[in-house]
Amino acid sequence: MQPMTHNNITSRETSHRKGILLAGGLGTRLAPLTQSVSKQLLPIYDKPLVFYPLSTLMLAGIKDVLVISTPDHIDQFKRLLGDGSDWNMHISYQVQAEPKGVAEALILAESWLDGAPSLLALGDNILHSTGLTGLLLDSVQPSQGATIFAFPVQDPSQFGVVDFDENGAAISLEEKPSNPRSEWAVTGLYVYDETASQKARSLSPSTRGELEITDLNKLYLSEKTLNVVRFPRGTTWLDTGTLDGLVTASEWVRATERQNGFKIACPEEIAWRNGWISREQLAAISLRYKNEYGAYLKRLSDSSKS
Ligand code: DAU
Repeated sequence: MQPMTHNNITSRETSHRKGILLAGGLGTRLAPLTQSVSKQLLPIYDKPLVFYPLSTLMLAGIKDVLVISTPDHIDQFKRLLGDGSDWNMHISYQVQAEPKGVAEALILAESWLDGAPSLLALGDNILHSTGLTGLLLDSVQPSQGATIFAFPVQDPSQFGVVDFDENGAAISLEEKPSNPRSEWAVTGLYVYDETASQKARSLSPSTRGELEITDLNKLYLSEKTLNVVRFPRGTTWLDTGTLDGLVTASEWVRATERQNGFKIACPEEIAWRNGWISREQLAAISLRYKNEYGAYLKRLSDSSKS
């Protein structure tokens, strides 16, 4: 799926792949911050956390998104995102009764997916790099198998870990291993073909009682249909699971936005750049915010796309 350029206006084709945004869980590590507010709605500098993974789905050209959250929090997401029509998207909602594991998202989404391939994003992962859009658009192209994304970290034991052979092919996947075989953590973004829900239904809960996304990915690995993309240098991946992680992410967004003059993960901006909403629609949305966010959207709508 290549960006199409018409008279200096860049618009992207929309993917038939559907997006799943998993934004449930108990947020135990962040209590009392998460006592009454969903973890994925906590602020990351100037936006709620969920805007960041939602933007990743949008950059991949995905307009149809299912937000999955807890019975307590699902209405908070509906108030924030609505039905997506402001951005010419379609946003639907699904409750996860209990946090039974990341892979349960594929089961909960099965009827909504209706046989479509998917891109699953964890609601607490932030991804950013200059070449990210092209990399995402390339990665959602194949219709068969699965693609996961790896990033080198200092303490891989906190994550899913992928190891490679000397030719760079993935040979093993482990969830939070005490002795990691490589430095490559698996990030919270997963491209799946239409067999993922059926595969997820065949999984058994792990010792911690969850349907593990790593176990689902292992099924693709054993079928030799797992593709692993290593994020290039210059990519930023932030997991906001801890208090320090939240603060670090806010500081990083603030510093990067100030330096670049552009916002990171601004859904209105992405919808406009994708050609999903017009300049006039962007200008109309800007009027809702009597603050710097609104002023930014207004500046964009007055500018030419670059
Ligand atoms: O962040 C990447 C890591 O995400 C991967 O490296 C791991 O392989 C993968 O298992 C996952 O590990 P985490 O320990 O970060 O998963 P966590 O339980 O924190 O859940 C990730 C997000 O998904 C979090 O925002 C809460 C949400 N969640 C989690 C579970 C288990 C749900 O909405 N429902 C659930 O049932």
